[in-house]
Amino acid sequence: MRIESGKQIEHLGAVRIHPVRRLLELDSGTRIPSQLKESAEPQRIERDAIAAVQQKMAIVLPIKDEDLKVFEAVLSGVPHDCLMIVTSNSQRGEIDNFKKEQEILGQFCTATKRNAIIIHQKDPILGQVLADCGYHEVLAEDGLVRSGKAEGMLVGILMSLVLGKDYVGFIDTDNYIPGAVWEYAQHYAIGFCLSDSPYAMARILWRYKPKISGELYFKKWGRVSEITNRYVNHFLSTKGKFETEIIKTANAGEHAMSLQLAKKLSYAAGYGVETRELMAVFEQFSGLLPAADKAVMEKGVDIIQTETINPHIHEERGDDHLVQDMLVPSLSVVYHSPLCEDKTRELISRHLVEMGCIPQGGEMPKLRMFPPPETADTHKLASLMDNYLKDYAVPKGWPVMTSLPAAARKTPEVTRVMFTDLDGTLLHPVSYSYAAALDSVRKLQEAKIPIVFCSAKTMAEQQVYRQELGVKDPFIIENGAAIVVPKDYFRFPFAFTRIIDDYYVIELGTLYAEVRNRLKTLGETGGAKLTFFGDLTVEEVSKVTALNLLMAGFAKQREYSETAIIEGDRKHLQAALAAIKGTGLSYTFGGKFYEVYLGADKGKAVKILTELFKLNFGDVYTIAVGDSPNDEEMLTSVNLPMLVQMANGRWNKLKVKNLKRVAGIGPEGWSRAASELLNG
Ligand code: GDP
Ligand code: CO
Repeated sequence: MRIESGKQIEHLGAVRIHPVRRLLELDSGTRIPSQLKESAEPQRIERDAIAAVQQKMAIVLPIKDEDLKVFEAVLSGVPHDCLMIVTSNSQRGEIDNFKKEQEILGQFCTATKRNAIIIHQKDPILGQVLADCGYHEVLAEDGLVRSGKAEGMLVGILMSLVLGKDYVGFIDTDNYIPGAVWEYAQHYAIGFCLSDSPYAMARILWRYKPKISGELYFKKWGRVSEITNRYVNHFLSTKGKFETEIIKTANAGEHAMSLQLAKKLSYAAGYGVETRELMAVFEQFSGLLPAADKAVMEKGVDIIQTETINPHIHEERGDDHLVQDMLVPSLSVVYHSPLCEDKTRELISRHLVEMGCIPQGGEMPKLRMFPPPETADTHKLASLMDNYLKDYAVPKGWPVMTSLPAAARKTPEVTRVMFTDLDGTLLHPVSYSYAAALDSVRKLQEAKIPIVFCSAKTMAEQQVYRQELGVKDPFIIENGAAIVVPKDYFRFPFAFTRIIDDYYVIELGTLYAEVRNRLKTLGETGGAKLTFFGDLTVEEVSKVTALNLLMAGFAKQREYSETAIIEGDRKHLQAALAAIKGTGLSYTFGGKFYEVYLGADKGKAVKILTELFKLNFGDVYTIAVGDSPNDEEMLTSVNLPMLVQMANGRWNKLKVKNLKRVAGIGPEGWSRAASELLNG
């Protein structure tokens, strides 16, 4: 994307107010042609940079009995990387709009492979949790969160905090233009890209299209925003030497904040909420009142305003009281600010009296205020919410991560993880028996140390051993072609390629059919005899592998790689392997046979899985146990690599740093490795 170059920034203490910048290009391409060296201005913002912000951003979608078709369209405009948090105050009971919203969100998320949170503002559990955390101000006498969009927004901010997000953006669900929804989320990200401070706010100026049928509405809204801007600017002018018109977004419903900032602000109820956010920033960080926060004063707060390209067309309430309903609260927060000078107050009162919004000499209404979210016990909030998040998660049963540090979570704490090869390592190289390792397997399980299989074996084969040994941890199949994670294992969403039964599968390797296709182009093999498992019957596989028929059948169920038997002398073998390479495929020697594949990577799989473990449990120490050259990648990707003896009592010669050789063939060696991990 490309936006207009920055103009003069205005300062109010630690607050940097950026003048509105127009968006020039929705898409500015992926590469800069070298002859057209990009100058610093106008500013081009890379897709990657936007995506990086959006991955850490929650989009809060407040909803109250909106048209469900419109709601659905809004969802489709929210960028995939943003986590959607729907806060609803829709009708429940016989006609249950909330339930319909849940269904629509569920269908959308299932189809688009994303997850979301939907919570009803009047959920009794939410009320109870907020009471327990000392955030009483948003609760009504009945113990439930009060009605109102501002309250819905606050719930969204609190949920974003619980979910460990860095940014929170708001988008109304009565928006008719999905492209505008998408654009808002881009603007938010752009705003955060432009700010070097952890405390930033991005506010959007809509581009009006007054000729579209909602003319009346635009006029009204335009009027409200024009008046609000005028008095916020008047307020600012009294603080500096010059008049200013810099604020153009004083009641921008479409806006976003870094959570670091959002949790420090105090909020107003009703239509004053957006204007209040600006005033709160001025009050807390202009330095005009006793400094609220040293850290913020040092880094400063950025208020970034951008103007959109898409028109803003939304549900028109067509209500005559609209101007009053919106204007009074917006101006009230300016009026009641302790920083507001009498001059500004007088002008505001006079204006509202003239418009007939308040009686002559009447009191300026005061809005209900909510204290900064950080005054609630947010740690307690996260730990209480942790129990209920699954009920708010969509699709149902999705794991969601909270912002809690690992230690505070109820899940057993995992500090060590074992990756292990199967054939020749956990399983005896000749008998395939794991008997010698069984005791150690149990000890590891008692100590909550995950045992991650990482082998050439197929999913079906590994399932057998997982079942027999009671291993419930993720596993890596077909030499790193895929990582298989039980659905309920990690408590946060992560990217996966497909769902198979109760597993999320992250694929690194190319599918079996493609491998077979390439093998068809196999050139001259120099007289070697090549046989592929795919061409053999189960009986034949059973014969050459000495596996029983059941296991031989499972061994044939390859999803990403083909097993090759290569017969002939050294020269034949080399020619055959060269021919395989010639097709663009890779191979690895598993001790007896060759695995032929594309893209699979044991080392990468181990690293990805380690990352997931760390995200879920905090720092973990990893070990790996293997026996042969095809374990090298796995062994080099862990903290402590260990090697067991081969059937002949020797250790394979591997190129792995700090490799620890353990005594014992296959499972016997494995047991010793496990003891080291348990005692070390
Ligand atoms: P306007 O767009 O500024 O005129 O205000 P709307 O009445 O259209 O509301 C803006 C957004 O807030 C819409 O998405 C509404 O569905 C939503 N909304 C309105 N009232 C409530 C409420 O009490 N709670 C929640 N969570 N959302 C609300
Ligand atoms: Co609206």
